Amino acid sequence: MKRLLEPELMEDESQVKAYAEADFEIPHNEFIERLQSFIDCPGFNGTALDLGCGPGDISFRFAKAFPLSKVHALDGSQTMLNYAKSALTADLAERISFMPGLLPDVTLPRPAYEIIFSNSLLHHLPDPRALWHSIKKYSRPGARIIVMDLLRPADIKDAQTMVNSYAASEPEILQRDFYHSLLAAFSMEEIKAQLAFAGLNLNVEQISDRHVFITGVIPD
Ligand SMILES: C[S@@+](CC[C@H](N)C(=O)[O-])C[C@H]1O[C@@H](n2cnc3c(N)ncnc32)[C@H](O)[C@@H]1O
Repeated sequence: MKRLLEPELMEDESQVKAYAEADFEIPHNEFIERLQSFIDCPGFNGTALDLGCGPGDISFRFAKAFPLSKVHALDGSQTMLNYAKSALTADLAERISFMPGLLPDVTLPRPAYEIIFSNSLLHHLPDPRALWHSIKKYSRPGARIIVMDLLRPADIKDAQTMVNSYAASEPEILQRDFYHSLLAAFSMEEIKAQLAFAGLNLNVEQISDRHVFITGVIPD
């Protein structure tokens, strides 16, 4: 099935509210567990970069999992950032900075990061090079990269079956978003080709019927 783009930024108030209030406990917990096991450094005390942070759930989970860390969390949608900031508790406010910016043309507060992670951003990008270029530009030598995203199903029927299996109890607006996200996602082969083109030597693993997990270390 050919890729069908969805709107790049999530800016509509009702869409963002539904996303911010959705229960992502299982996939987001899995993201953090896999990230922890890949990084293998519970005492990490540097600054990590979260690309396409949305309402911030993954940034919060990262900051809690690494209590000495700081997080710079970026999104192109002010609506998303408003939700993220409103959920920021006083203790985390000292360690997480939410910031506006549209990849790839963004200037971040630091020239390079030791950890860069991103969940569910790639499929939003009309041109996936925006993510891979930004990762290359803002990685320190030795930086750990962790990216999770959806995979595009074989056809529209499979996409609908996944919505019915995994989101049947979610509000209509979330079901629709999930469906469109599946159609906008990349295949394993496309992601491997993107990475080869970008000159990024990352490991690409399919971890479920609909998720890909990408990890690697930027060479010194
Ligand atoms: C599906 S949400 C994922 C949010 C969050 N990472 C999570 O896992 O819950 C994708 C986010 O990427 C943002 N986004 C899309 N294109 C972007 C770009 N070029 N630069 C920055 N943010 C972008 C959208 O506004 C949206 O908030």
